[in-house]
Amino acid sequence: MAEVARLLAAAKKARTQAYAPYSQFAVGAAVLTKSGEIFSGCNVENSSYGLTVCAERVAAFAAVTGGSRELVGIALVADMPAPPLPCGACRQVLSEFNPQMWVVCANLQGKQRRFRLDELLPEAFGPDFRETRKEK
Ligand code: THU
Repeated sequence: MAEVARLLAAAKKARTQAYAPYSQFAVGAAVLTKSGEIFSGCNVENSSYGLTVCAERVAAFAAVTGGSRELVGIALVADMPAPPLPCGACRQVLSEFNPQMWVVCANLQGKQRRFRLDELLPEAFGPDFRETRKEK
């Protein structure tokens, strides 16, 4: 798929902007929207550690800020022997916008793993629960 190659290139480029002085672990991500737009993000760390935001969430929030909430897929890239996997917090955030989006994980050597998000986060809590929750 040509889009996957475009997305991986965008994620790889975003990775070069990572602000990761504490972990030294640079991650890049890029999301594809239904209209074909690409939004990218890198991880942004903080001296308080806990305020660090992963590349995947930065990319997803960039898409939302750009007016696109329909996310079709995401690519993430890191320099690891095996392709990186998105953390649980990012899986939850991405699931808000499309539990069926595809996820391509790649290392710098081009080794890839592909998933559908609901494989990585089965039985997810989602926006539908708003309608079914009991108000006190
Ligand atoms: N990180 C990401 O950006 N994405 C992931 O999927 C896993 C972890 C970042 C957060 C932190 O800056 C660094 O990698 C080490 O955990």
